[in-house]
This record gives sequence, structure tokens and C-alpha cells, in this order.
Amino acid sequence: MTTVRGVVLAVCCLLVGVAAVDPVVSAPTGSARTPPMGWNSWNAYGCDIDQQKIRAAADAIVAAGLRDVGYEYVNVDDCWQATTRDVWGNLRADPARFPDGMKALADYVHGKGLRFGIYATPGTRTCANLAGLYPGALGSLGHERQDAAVFAAWGVDYLKYDWCRAEVDGVEPRAGFTLMRDALDDTGRAVVYSIHRQPQLPVDSWRPSVANSWRTTGDIAPTWDSVTGIVDRQVGLEVWARPGAWNDPDMLEVGNGALTPDESRAHFSLWAVLSAPLLAGNRLDAMSEDTRRVLTNRDVVAVDQDWAGSQGYRVRDGGDVQVWVKPLSGGDRAVAVLNRGASTATTSVTAAEFGFPGGGGLTLRDLWSGVVSGAEGPVAVTVRPHAAVLYRVSARR
Ligand code: GLA
Repeated sequence: MTTVRGVVLAVCCLLVGVAAVDPVVSAPTGSARTPPMGWNSWNAYGCDIDQQKIRAAADAIVAAGLRDVGYEYVNVDDCWQATTRDVWGNLRADPARFPDGMKALADYVHGKGLRFGIYATPGTRTCANLAGLYPGALGSLGHERQDAAVFAAWGVDYLKYDWCRAEVDGVEPRAGFTLMRDALDDTGRAVVYSIHRQPQLPVDSWRPSVANSWRTTGDIAPTWDSVTGIVDRQVGLEVWARPGAWNDPDMLEVGNGALTPDESRAHFSLWAVLSAPLLAGNRLDAMSEDTRRVLTNRDVVAVDQDWAGSQGYRVRDGGDVQVWVKPLSGGDRAVAVLNRGASTATTSVTAAEFGFPGGGGLTLRDLWSGVVSGAEGPVAVTVRPHAAVLYRVSARR
């Protein structure tokens, strides 16, 4: 099975001309043909999780209409584990927080037409344990096959495998991440495999061959500086992304902390242009209507989920104003004009920057306002402070 996938992948890479990916390792276990979408507990709750909160998130994904636009994974992050393995060495859930256990929780999530995700680490400790936030934090080192089998028996569909200083335990990153990938693969269950190596070294060829997504930065925070700082660090990474393997600039903070509605829209716009996994990180059962509208904007989600040979890339770095372009299937372009500054900016964007070097008439649809306009030459774009305008641009036929 793995060999067939590897061949399919190799053919696919030849066709789309993706940067050379290490041919030695085979394709990862999950499919993730488009960037995974769902929700994760960490940004909303940190360590303070229990089965009621996870169930409430699953309920809300359905009730708020997120499932209808493609959000499907409900992912439990760190702090779900009991402090010890059972007598057979199996991982188990903290009985106080998850009294019905993970299988029952996965069943509940599946019963909603959703998929279930969980968190583990390749060393001996999880990140929350390292940070002194949680006592029960058992890593998978030496138990990779056993843990993969337990996850499969529970019905896990997504694994976040988080480095958490596993080098202290003598783990080598590529080997450690590959070990779990192989263990997941051998269960026969399609599990989306999301990895995070801290500190983030430059992305190299093994990552897209081992995992369905890999973090490209440290942890996001719900601030404008954090969001724009992460955007800065995505420049050039587009060469690594392809269907089944995605750069991960971290989970969404839409609706969290001090982010304004404009900042949340800009954050979501850029993540879509970057073909990022869209994992909501807010309290779905207590979100504002504005936040719900951001997360469920079908036009913006369609930009994220579209693949026409490249994730978005930066075509202008003009200080406060940046222009990012993502090719879309059918020849359209998604174009984000980002204003990082504290005052309104008006800038002229050329047809070439919109991704149409030959010029000609263009049709621009603003994906947040819905306003459609035409252009024959450069377009004057006005962007509010700490905001982005996101267009879908087509050549006028
Ligand atoms: C790391 C990860 C976060 C989260 C925490 C949990 O910091 O980057 O996304 O999973 O660990 O402890």
C-alpha cells in the first residue's frame, strides 16, 4: 500500500514540478489531499480540557454551520492523558477529565459526522508537562507501535505529534517522526499525521515525505504581531507544499484574544492564501456572529482548499503593505493585499502582481464584501489599518 502511494506521489510531483522531495521515505499515512480543516482544543482552552468541552465543540461545529463548509476534525490537544500507562503499557485518558474514555469520545464525534484527533509526542514528555502545566504527560518513545494501535482502536483520524524536546531523550527528528508514521501506516487506518519540530529548523526534504503537515513556526498567539510575524516566516516555503503535504503556520486564533474583526479577517485570508490547515482555535460554543462569519466564509475557504500547483507566495514586500498571490484552478488568482500598519493605506496593484503578467481586462471579486469590479490597468486598493483585502481575480474573457 505504501509503495503504491509512493509511486502515485512521485508521479504527482513530476506532474506539478514540485521541489525535489526525498525519495527514500514513502508517503505519509493520511490523505489530506486538501489542507485539513477542523478545530483543536489548545488555543481555546490550553490544558483545561475535559470531555464535555470536546463534545461541546463537536456540537457547535455542526450547529454553527462549520461542518457544512468543510470543518471535520475535532482534535484533542495536550493534557488528555492519565499520569501512568495501564498494566499492559497502554496509554489511557485522565479518568477525571475523560471519565468515559477516548473511544467513547471518538464515537461521539464520529456520530456527528466528524473525525477525531489526538495529541502525542515522540519523546518521554509532552510540551505541557515540560512547561510544568500538567503532570500526566507520557510520550510515545518505545511505545510507538502500541500507541498507534491504541489510537486506531479508539478511532483516531488525526494525530498531532509534537516534538517537545525529544532530543533530550536521544530521538533524532527524522527517525522519530518516521517511526510513528510507519506505525500509523501499519494500523491500516487513514490518519492525518501532523508534526511539529521545535525549534523550527528550515523545512527540508524529509518533512513533506513523512507528514501531512508540519509546523513552520513556534506557537501562535492571539495578537496582530504574532499573526504578521508568522506570515513573515512563510516566505519561500511554498516550494514544499503539495496535495497531501502542507506547511502549517499553526492553528487559527480567529475570534481569540485582542484580535479585532479586521485582524481576524486578515489572519484567515492569509492562512487561506498559504494553503494552511484551517484548525479553528476559538470557543465554538461561545463565538460571536462576526467570528462565525469569518470562519464560514465559503469563498475564502474555497481559496484555501483549491490547489493549482502552488501555495500562495509573496510578490511584494513594501514595508507595511504586502501582496500575496495564490494560483487557483481554472486560471483565477487569489490575491491578498495586507496592510500591517496602523493607518489606512492606498496602494496601486499591477496586473502582474495580480498574477496576470500579460495584462488585459481583469474582474476582481472582494471575498469579504462581495463587491465585484473590473480593471484594465493597475488598481488602487485601499486597505484599512491592520487588515487585508482578499480578491479572487479572473481574466475577463
Ligand atoms: C506546543 C505546541 C502547541 C500545543 C502545546 C501543548 O507548544 O506547539 O500547539 O500543542 O505544545 O502543550
